[in-house]
Amino acid sequence: MTGGGKIANVYQTDRVAKKEEAPMSQSPVLDNPLKEGIRIERAADPCAMVIFGAHGDLTKRKLIPALFALYIEGFLPREFCVVGMSRTKMTDDEFRLSMKDSLQQFAPDIPFDQDKWDRFASSIYYLPAHFDEPGGLHELSQLLGTLSQKHGTQGNNLFYLSTPPSLYNPILDRLAESNLVERRKGLTAPWPRIIVEKPFGRDLETAVALDERLHGVFKEDQVFRIDHYLGKETVQNIMVLRFANGIFEPLWNREHVDHVQITNAETIGVEGRGAYYEEAGNMRDMIQNHMLQLVSLVAMEPPISLAAEATRDEKAKVLRSIRPFDLNNLDKYAVRGQYGPGYIAGQAVPGYREEPKVAKDSNRETFTALKLHIDNWRWAGVPFYVRSGKRLSKHVTEIAVHFKKAPHRLFNLNFVDAAELIGPNILVMKIQPDEGISLKFATKQPGTTTKLRWLSMDFNYGTAFGERTPTAYERLIHDCISGDATLFSRSDAVQASWELISPVLEKWESEAPKNFPNYAAGTWGPPESDELLADDDDVWRSL
Ligand SMILES: NC(=O)c1ccc[n+]([C@@H]2O[C@H](COP(=O)([O-])OP(=O)(O)OC[C@H]3O[C@@H](n4cnc5c(N)ncnc54)[C@H](OP(=O)(O)O)[C@@H]3O)[C@@H](O)[C@H]2O)c1
Repeated sequence: MTGGGKIANVYQTDRVAKKEEAPMSQSPVLDNPLKEGIRIERAADPCAMVIFGAHGDLTKRKLIPALFALYIEGFLPREFCVVGMSRTKMTDDEFRLSMKDSLQQFAPDIPFDQDKWDRFASSIYYLPAHFDEPGGLHELSQLLGTLSQKHGTQGNNLFYLSTPPSLYNPILDRLAESNLVERRKGLTAPWPRIIVEKPFGRDLETAVALDERLHGVFKEDQVFRIDHYLGKETVQNIMVLRFANGIFEPLWNREHVDHVQITNAETIGVEGRGAYYEEAGNMRDMIQNHMLQLVSLVAMEPPISLAAEATRDEKAKVLRSIRPFDLNNLDKYAVRGQYGPGYIAGQAVPGYREEPKVAKDSNRETFTALKLHIDNWRWAGVPFYVRSGKRLSKHVTEIAVHFKKAPHRLFNLNFVDAAELIGPNILVMKIQPDEGISLKFATKQPGTTTKLRWLSMDFNYGTAFGERTPTAYERLIHDCISGDATLFSRSDAVQASWELISPVLEKWESEAPKNFPNYAAGTWGPPESDELLADDDDVWRSL
């Protein structure tokens, strides 16, 4: 890779990364990559990455493809190796073969090259183990010692929790009883780090308990709570858009913003994950983590620097500034829904209660809409509306900042068609399926009379840069190996988000909804979701 660098850290340009294929420990070492004309951005530390749960879905679909993409694009350190662990008995070669099959099946956009794969795969190892049995990591300690010598990983170990959350505590017990997590006083290396997959608890109490357990083994700066939303290009671009441009930030406040809408709409149902969804529901699955992270990025103050803690401080402040829900009038601020049977793209689909492993009388929410108030100087009086749901009519995730209308209607109804009524300017940050930005504004139609039309200026990541966009996992794994925690959730922010939503979940779980299912698959959720905005004369964007 040459040029701007796909994983260039937009926040920290002083860190460095290699920009050519890194054949890990087998590669010739460049004395000074700068001399070779290679642009340097960030350095990923030498390390061994241990994946707990390596026979699972996440490893196949996301982790190994991300690592291979990082490898072929030169972003992995030369001194790197992977150890996969799970119950299934396999040899190194069997594991490598199964990972190669998964790569070709799940990541067809990554150019496959057999030679490169062979070099990459020679640094992948597999070790079967039962994490819930004492001594389960004994062999791992020995293997990592050997690999540290063989691959030059310098004793740095990155542990990735890619297992069901019920195994987090047993794995932390195993790590605590091993010699793998020692951190010598005053030294930053060798380091242990741990990546934790969501869910980070299922309410405030369990989130605090998980943090205590993690902090019993790791220091907070060694804990990387992954939220793959934060690895998406547009999400990272929110900060660049706001703080690298002069024109937006002066408008980014209560004087000029009427309200903000954040939508996460999925057309799919629970896709065979009924048992998981029955436990979690939409609020835990989407709102507590992804949606509140988006709120904090849109609403945060400029950080004092691009250091990880400076950004994370500002995001945490936003979460702490969100007004607690008025539980006596909860319906005015929080709406839950569950889909019934309906149609998606003309195809009949079953209701949630008809899905496999879902109770026939389930009260689990598959849709949530919230009206949030951020009680601070910048946002007083500006509602942030957040909605997320399954089996909605379109697959789209976006943030729409609705600006206030022009103060005086110079161009009144005589200048516009009824269908083109002049509304507010809206800045939309599109997160998926297409990543990009669009700005909606009024313009004059060509002609001898003054007729106005509503148009948008669009920027699309895919077409604008013409490069493959790295997946969120590529970005985040690379950041973790480089020790950059900016895009990971910090303990206090996770707890602040649970403090906000746990009381709502408790109330919902103590009072059965009267009208579930309350929206048909293929619609935009229950009518109550519209009422949430009606008090302020707002309406959801028609997507
Ligand atoms: N899948 C995704 O796309 C995705 C996306 C976001 C987050 N996540 C999160 O990532 C984590 C992993 O998800 P997943 O979908 O990969 O789970 P999964 O497919 O159920 O895989 C679980 C893994 O854990 C291993 N395992 C289970 N019990 C074990 C034990 N007692 N000892 C040793 N190994 C054990 C399994 O090994 P065997 O197969 O050998 O029994 C398997 O490798 C979860 O926390 C999930 O919430 C997943």
